[in-house]
Amino acid sequence: MAAYFLVKGEQTVKGRITINGAKNSAVALLPAALLTEEKVKIDNLPRITDINILLEIMRALGAVVSFAGGRSLIIDGANVDSFIPPETLVNKLRASYYLMGSLLGRFGRVEIPMPGGCDLGPRPIDQHIKGFTAMGAEVEVEHGLVKVKAKALKGAHIYLDVVSVGATINIMLAAVKAEGRTVIENAAREPEIVDVANFLNAMGAQIRGAGTDVIKIQGVRELHGAEHSVIPDRIEAGTFMIAAAATGGELIVADVIPRHLEPVTAKLKEVGAEVELGPDYIGVRGSNGLAACDVKTFPYPGFPTDLQPHMMVLLLKAPGISLITENVFERRFRHIDELRKMGAMITLEGRTAIINGGRPLSSAPLRAMDLRGGAAFIIAGLIASGDTIVNNIAYIDRGYEKIEERFQEVGVCVQRLETGQQ
Ligand code: EPZ
Repeated sequence: MAAYFLVKGEQTVKGRITINGAKNSAVALLPAALLTEEKVKIDNLPRITDINILLEIMRALGAVVSFAGGRSLIIDGANVDSFIPPETLVNKLRASYYLMGSLLGRFGRVEIPMPGGCDLGPRPIDQHIKGFTAMGAEVEVEHGLVKVKAKALKGAHIYLDVVSVGATINIMLAAVKAEGRTVIENAAREPEIVDVANFLNAMGAQIRGAGTDVIKIQGVRELHGAEHSVIPDRIEAGTFMIAAAATGGELIVADVIPRHLEPVTAKLKEVGAEVELGPDYIGVRGSNGLAACDVKTFPYPGFPTDLQPHMMVLLLKAPGISLITENVFERRFRHIDELRKMGAMITLEGRTAIINGGRPLSSAPLRAMDLRGGAAFIIAGLIASGDTIVNNIAYIDRGYEKIEERFQEVGVCVQRLETGQQ
């Protein structure tokens, strides 16, 4: 039996929602914890399937992981004795690539299959490899397996050719225990990178400059135990903010760091939503007269590619022509064909989607093609007429914790059903 979401149409999101810990931090914090043999505690962990898979991988490597309460995890990496994460699990998760940096840092060795994850177009890891090689590692790719080995990792000066979140974090993980100083130039500046650097520093690392485009890491001999709380998920927050704007609703999104959402709040205002910024919350009030606008995705602090599909759905409500240019991933547009099934008028020219907004959407059976596109279909279902079915929801569960219950909390009907059940 396959699970799917049934989304009741023409509904309005309203009320208050508190935001969970950030997936894209958490998936790096867990591998980072393997850099010490001492116990580490991570709080505010999102309970999503990507984390469950990562925990299975860590257990397979020899770590003892146990929850102390719903969202606090204790990781005891003392008995980790393998540098070969199991292929079947690694293939399920893009972020398993962080085990490259962390196991390399711990054992000077790692053998791992090329990472899986959402199909957003080509997702090479050449910049990760460039970093490891600069630090003295030998890297071989054989039969889909990446084998990295270093007698002793040495600090290096690394200039990234593309701004990459994954490469920045992976190089940081490998560099914290390397001999001497590593400098990463043209580093990514995402808040999740700062979160990982803060955790590593709490473990005794010496990282400066995270959040800027030059990160300097002075290698230390050992890391020790620490406790850390995951930052709020700005993409989950943005999802609900956009849902409120698209449905003409009124929502308080609480427990967020409003600064992390500036690119999103700026666009929501431009589209015509009202946005109120509090110290740790953001209020969004939709409007019936939304305005078309242009959006270009860029690395942070640009508009996040992870909210591009949601923004597209919002712009379907705004009369006139809007353009969305996807600058981060070459083919992150697989949601367009599905949205067309609802009557959306969207054409694609190269990396730019041309959205002819303001036309009514009607329900249709949709198939999630990736995590964020799938979540955007729920928002599309809320503004369409009729009941929309979203299939393939395992993608959505990878990064959103019980998203149907979260939508129910804000007053709309999204149900998780099994085929054969209505
Ligand atoms: C991270 O992916 C996130 N994943 C993605 O979140 C997010 O969309 C992306 O950053 C951009 O913000 C995690 O944090 C686990 P990149 P990542 O390396 O690290 C190219 C979600 O839905 N590139 O910053 O894989 C790459 O092809 C997801 O939560 C190289 O060319 O992204 C892309 O065009 C999906 N060579 C661009 O850089 C490399 O070695 C940015 O990718 C690495 C990347």
